[in-house]
Amino acid sequence: MSDNSFNIESLRAQFPILNQQVNGAPLVYLDSAATTQKPQCVIDAITDYYTGYNSNVHRGAHSLADKATIAFEAAREKVAKFLNSPKSEQVLWTRGTTEAINLVAHSWGNSHIPEGEVMLVSALENHASIVPWQILAEQKGAKVVPIPLTPNGDIDQNAFTELLTPNVKLLALSHVSNALGSVNPVAKMVAEAKAKGITTLVDGAQAVAHFTIDVQALGCDFYVFSGHKLFGPTGIGVLWGQEALLNAMPPYQGGGEMIDTVSFEGTTFNGLPFKFEAGTPHIEGVIGLGAAIDFVNSLDHKAVAQHEADLMAYLIDKAASVEGLTRIGHAEHQVGAFSFLLEGAHPSDVGMILDQQGIAVRTGHHCTQPLMSYLNITGTIRASLSIYNTRDDIDRLFAGLEKAKLFLL
Ligand code: ALA
Repeated sequence: MSDNSFNIESLRAQFPILNQQVNGAPLVYLDSAATTQKPQCVIDAITDYYTGYNSNVHRGAHSLADKATIAFEAAREKVAKFLNSPKSEQVLWTRGTTEAINLVAHSWGNSHIPEGEVMLVSALENHASIVPWQILAEQKGAKVVPIPLTPNGDIDQNAFTELLTPNVKLLALSHVSNALGSVNPVAKMVAEAKAKGITTLVDGAQAVAHFTIDVQALGCDFYVFSGHKLFGPTGIGVLWGQEALLNAMPPYQGGGEMIDTVSFEGTTFNGLPFKFEAGTPHIEGVIGLGAAIDFVNSLDHKAVAQHEADLMAYLIDKAASVEGLTRIGHAEHQVGAFSFLLEGAHPSDVGMILDQQGIAVRTGHHCTQPLMSYLNITGTIRASLSIYNTRDDIDRLFAGLEKAKLFLL
């Protein structure tokens, strides 16, 4: 956090993609919950790797391989600091949030979820934190139990406490809802679960780009996120875990890098983090993610958080005066995503008309079908904000919605 002056124009100038016309109008990008845009420094870091030192890591006996390995492991250190991890060995590379959750479900879940036991998830989880547990439940004869929501769309805390019975072995929670933007009280919920000996996983996919993460303060056992939601590349993500748990877990995939010695009599495995990193990793993804974290560290976090809070308040306030607009979810603390419906209009038609005006939103169920069923709707229109958005973007969204009404109603 070096720069105290927050200048939105110079920040936006770092994101080359924002400076373009889409369908004849300047782009308004309101889909950062799906993926964030990339600053030039991330694009440059990937280009520099391919033009300057493309090599495999941990294997080569030459200078380029050394350079690639140093950059690759430096990125792991950056992620460790970003999460306030005690050790960088607790940071494992995955393809993204989804693979990180699947890794835990396969490796930890296989030996820790006996028949008849329960995995608790909130009803607003993304499919990525429902389906891997369901597959495991099917294999083990266990159960996935949803924690109900309040009418506001928040996780019902009383119901949660009641559900913490002795047969619950896992609590999996999103830090921030991708569909509603609600910031869930994960520290409190993790503490309640841990007090009962329950293992906890927090899905930080929608949180990492909006506030500081401290895995030690959260007290969770696993924390997962994707690089592409944090201004980094796609195809790279992180599984952070408690060291003792990771050490005790069997490998997820076999291959090179994850072994110590291999013979037909038997194979021994490498230590952390390599035990979970079979094969050539996504080197440029890791280096790009390292650059994304450098970028985040260069921002004035307080000013950025203030800017985002101002945008969300402005959006909520304006939405309240739009006739026929229903806000979906009313969390007290909301970041990133804002979901809504326009009376009489199908979300996908609204999305299409907004796109014709250069305004990018996401429509549909947002990979949260159980949440949509709970709310008795099939989907929403979701505008999601990031650090590079402006009040002007929000004005354009509402002007676009008025046009959509003229076409559709
Ligand atoms: N989970 C991502 C989203 O919410 C893809 O759009």
